[in-house]
Amino acid sequence: MAENMFWLNGNQVTFNPGETILEAAEAFGVLIPTLCHLKGATPTGACRVCIVEVEGTRNLPPACSTPVTPGIKVLTESSKVVEARRTILELMLSSGNHNCAAVSPKNWTDFQCRVHEEDNTSDLCPVWGDCKLQDLAYQYQVKSDRFVPNKSKYPVETVSPMIVRDFSRCILCGRCVQACNEIQVNRAISFGYRGADSKVVAGGDRPLVSSDCVFCGECVQACPVGALVDKKARYSWRPWKTTRVRTTCPYCGVGCQQLLHVQDGKIVKVTGVEDAEPNKGRLCVKGRFGYDFIYSEERLKTPLIRENGSLREASWDEALDLVADKIKEVIKTSGPDSIAGVSCARSINEDSYQMQKLFRAAIGTNNIDCCART
Ligand code: SF4
Ligand code: SF4
Ligand code: FES
Repeated sequence: MAENMFWLNGNQVTFNPGETILEAAEAFGVLIPTLCHLKGATPTGACRVCIVEVEGTRNLPPACSTPVTPGIKVLTESSKVVEARRTILELMLSSGNHNCAAVSPKNWTDFQCRVHEEDNTSDLCPVWGDCKLQDLAYQYQVKSDRFVPNKSKYPVETVSPMIVRDFSRCILCGRCVQACNEIQVNRAISFGYRGADSKVVAGGDRPLVSSDCVFCGECVQACPVGALVDKKARYSWRPWKTTRVRTTCPYCGVGCQQLLHVQDGKIVKVTGVEDAEPNKGRLCVKGRFGYDFIYSEERLKTPLIRENGSLREASWDEALDLVADKIKEVIKTSGPDSIAGVSCARSINEDSYQMQKLFRAAIGTNNIDCCART
């Protein structure tokens, strides 16, 4: 067998040096389930859901942090793997409040019907239908009644303006910690306490709002379960009722790529597009949480002209004529360098280009900037 080949579920597969079993399998089209794995961050091997069988080894190594070596024979869904994976999932479901899967497999259909009729004010999990743990529990037909569930000793944290932290649904996968520390490099959260008391903490275990958190929401996007949710979106949407619309963030010139989650014609949530430049899934607080300004009743719909100390509505022609007259007057009395232009950060590049052309070529000044730092 060639140096760059190994066996995957009976197939001869090539790999690149340094690739993990997970990466090589994915490149070959074999999906191995993961929960803690976060693309672009250091593998932690925390959840063990991605375990595989490697011929000749005693344990089941995690595919996300085990490099491929030439000639190894890997099985991703052998009965040994599936049995261990099911136990891991059962233990996770019992580690807190994961009531969504508290039914035996024969009742899945009833349960789904019941939830389709849910009202969003019930105590159902806010991410029902959008949870990786729930998906895997369903895929492996795991129920949550074998082990006695641990009760979380930490109350739900709702004081922060953007993010709700429900520690009872946290599976301690660490994706939020990695997203904060390695992806956004804000270093606002880490693991605190030990053993059964373990918890993701901000600062000296303070609410996010009193910590170094900048509310970029990367942790919310990374959380595979319902432990971190967008406060505004909580209980206001269901994934099967939404469509996703890709767009460019309107806030600044970086041009981050976003997915708008739209239900009944209204944006209910915004996430970053994972594999797209320039942001590769990342968003800032404005891009992720500042979407509801478009529904504000206070938005300006017409130009306003100030007269005798108060503003009155005007037509675009009237407003533009007034601005042109004022600019001409200032040029005449004080010269073109008495005028400065600031183009809107929300303008597209082409509009900003035209704005600087207007100022340099028509008005005759280089006093022109773009307020992309808003
Ligand atoms: S976090 Fe996921 S597994 Fe837990 S209750 Fe919610 S949907 Fe179910
Ligand atoms: S809050 Fe979510 S992402 Fe963070 S450790 Fe818990 S389950 Fe994982
Ligand atoms: S995804 Fe590999 S250990 Fe969690």
